[in-house]
Amino acid sequence: MSHAEIAPTAHYTAYAWHRLGFPHAEHFATARGRRLFWSFRAAGEWLAVVHPTVPSMLQYLELRHRCIEHALDEAQPDRVVEIGAGLSRRGLTWAADRGVDYLEIDLPHMVEAKRQIIADRVPAELRARARERLRHEAVDVTGPGFEDWLERTLHGAKRPVVIAEGVLGYFDLSDREHVARSVARALGGRGGFLCDLRSREGGPAVAAGAKLLRAGIWLVTRGRGAREDFPSRAAIGSYFERAGFARSEPIAAEQAAPHLAGLRTPARVWRASGRSASTP
Ligand SMILES: C[S@@+](CC[C@H](N)C(=O)[O-])C[C@H]1O[C@@H](n2cnc3c(N)ncnc32)[C@H](O)[C@@H]1O
Repeated sequence: MSHAEIAPTAHYTAYAWHRLGFPHAEHFATARGRRLFWSFRAAGEWLAVVHPTVPSMLQYLELRHRCIEHALDEAQPDRVVEIGAGLSRRGLTWAADRGVDYLEIDLPHMVEAKRQIIADRVPAELRARARERLRHEAVDVTGPGFEDWLERTLHGAKRPVVIAEGVLGYFDLSDREHVARSVARALGGRGGFLCDLRSREGGPAVAAGAKLLRAGIWLVTRGRGAREDFPSRAAIGSYFERAGFARSEPIAAEQAAPHLAGLRTPARVWRASGRSASTP
């Protein structure tokens, strides 16, 4: 899938963060996001909304977003790099309300759109609070320069965190490996890497959830869909190990979002950290 085809999903999720009432999300809700959100509802998502064991797209996204917020809170980062930040409200929140250095990266057209939205819609007082702490840069994370760029960017940080939310599932396995290896190398054992990944285990209810997610991505990306899921959680563990991380574990939904802990979802937010002994 080309990068331009992934972009509409950023409008969809930005609208979801707004519907869910996350701080500062109202500034990033677009007409395009609203249209995509309601056309997915009309196309059949309501089946999941009324079915108790299948997560709705909104519940699934809420769980994902809250798990990352929770893990970020625990990490107490002094610098964050968010990969494929799209129109997410997180960078503005952490820079303006928490005083954390936050660098959002994405492809050029999306970075341009975000800068424009911030200039046009975010109140001056809020922009002033984020000041130089919130930055945006166009970086293609699948490109050969990403690893060195990230190493330079994280230089000097004590507790850096790298986030990839709703991004890696669109990449093929070799791009996913390239991103994780670059992040492990640049972190060098400090801080951690937070990202969501899907696996194909968990029984019929989870399979139904996976189908729904794929249908949503299919609709929003106009038929291009997501890449393959990992076969199992163990396969996700070895993916991080191969990349050079010493540890990885899924974030516990019970702590991050107790009201969604019973949700049967094929996707989890993972935290990878440390540096494996074999990393050069
Ligand atoms: C599903 S959106 C997620 C946006 C945001 N993280 C969220 O959860 O609201 C995926 C984002 O990844 C970006 N993206 C896709 N390929 C990329 C690449 N190679 N390098 C950097 N960003 C990329 C897209 O432009 C898009 O903004």
